[in-house]
Amino acid sequence: MTDRASTQTMHAASPASFAIHRRADPMAVADRSKLLADPGFGRVFTDHMAMIRYTEGKGWHSAEITARKPLMLDPAAAVLHYAQEIFEGLKAYRLEDGRMVMFRPGANARRFQQSARRLAMPELPVELFTRSIHELVDVDRAWFPSVEGGSLYIRPFMFASEAFLGVRPATEYLYLVILSPVGGYFKAGSPAVSIWVSQDYTRASPGGTGAAKCGGNYASSLVPIAEATKHGCDQVVFLDAAEHKWLEELGGMNVFLVFNDGTLQTPPLTGTILPGITRESIMTLARAEGLTVREQPYSLDQWRADAESGRLTEAFACGTAAVVTPIGRVASPQGEFKIGAGGPGQITSSLKQKLVDIQRGKALDPHGWVYTID
Ligand code: PLP
Ligand code: COI
Repeated sequence: MTDRASTQTMHAASPASFAIHRRADPMAVADRSKLLADPGFGRVFTDHMAMIRYTEGKGWHSAEITARKPLMLDPAAAVLHYAQEIFEGLKAYRLEDGRMVMFRPGANARRFQQSARRLAMPELPVELFTRSIHELVDVDRAWFPSVEGGSLYIRPFMFASEAFLGVRPATEYLYLVILSPVGGYFKAGSPAVSIWVSQDYTRASPGGTGAAKCGGNYASSLVPIAEATKHGCDQVVFLDAAEHKWLEELGGMNVFLVFNDGTLQTPPLTGTILPGITRESIMTLARAEGLTVREQPYSLDQWRADAESGRLTEAFACGTAAVVTPIGRVASPQGEFKIGAGGPGQITSSLKQKLVDIQRGKALDPHGWVYTID
């Protein structure tokens, strides 16, 4: 299915064939400006969306940029029953000279293909993924937020739209991209976030879908996230399903530990955690600085012991939405411990600055990560 889908795509929906239908009634400039001054995260959406259809036997077709509007779905659409859905998250930035750029869209496109394979869905060619975003961001570029540190969050997603209740891969899919002008993911003003260790729930098990970016993984994280909130924490960290011992990742971010010898450690990609693009970028930047980064398992007991002995000096979460966010406090039913001074550490801050400067075109881009839209 996959090979055939890719070949057909090139014929049926080539990047050049995006039809652009600008809406006749875009939001009034004054209303838009008000929203863009304080968008929060994921609450504000732009005027347009990208859409491509997939039909078995025909491949990808009907690529368009069109008004963002509610979708018509048959109540038997397979996604509503068996959750055959995947998504991505990346950001676009506006440079000082007004040009729009995005960060590593090719890496998101490839991860979208990996997620599609795991969920038995057709793979969208990398070029079509990138082009759909390029065209949409170009049309909605006036929606870049004015809030300090803001960005345009890009949400590509795909789901099974075929009306069929049998359990098998669907034969029809919709791929869409929506844009959300955003500020920070966490509430502003706090120097570091607090993390709740989920004891009763795990996020993913060996052989499951932990490495895929599918909606189902997030549905099952909602109860543990609510539990974290109940305990006064900002996020949840999951332990492995087999031993309930090893750190995996947060609800929507990867995790890094920083030690007093200047080395870093992050859990390895064993198939149960999301291969974060920020994670990979941070490892590359740290290694380019001469820092040692280990991809090795790290236990909760060790985390507590190292934080208490001072061997562990910093910890941070990273992801597209969260960028790089210091972790100041870790809480569990067994009690809590503080990391370092409870605020942003020096290595965390310096790696974050390096990443953000590349993303926003303020530093050279030696790795070719920045894609210019103009
Ligand atoms: N882990 C999970 C579960 C996520 O949802 C995300 C966010 O996309 C990440 C890690 C970080 O991935 P990335 O850096 O590619 O955004
Ligand atoms: C992202 O960082 O893009 C995510 O998908 C995570 C989610 C918490 C918004």
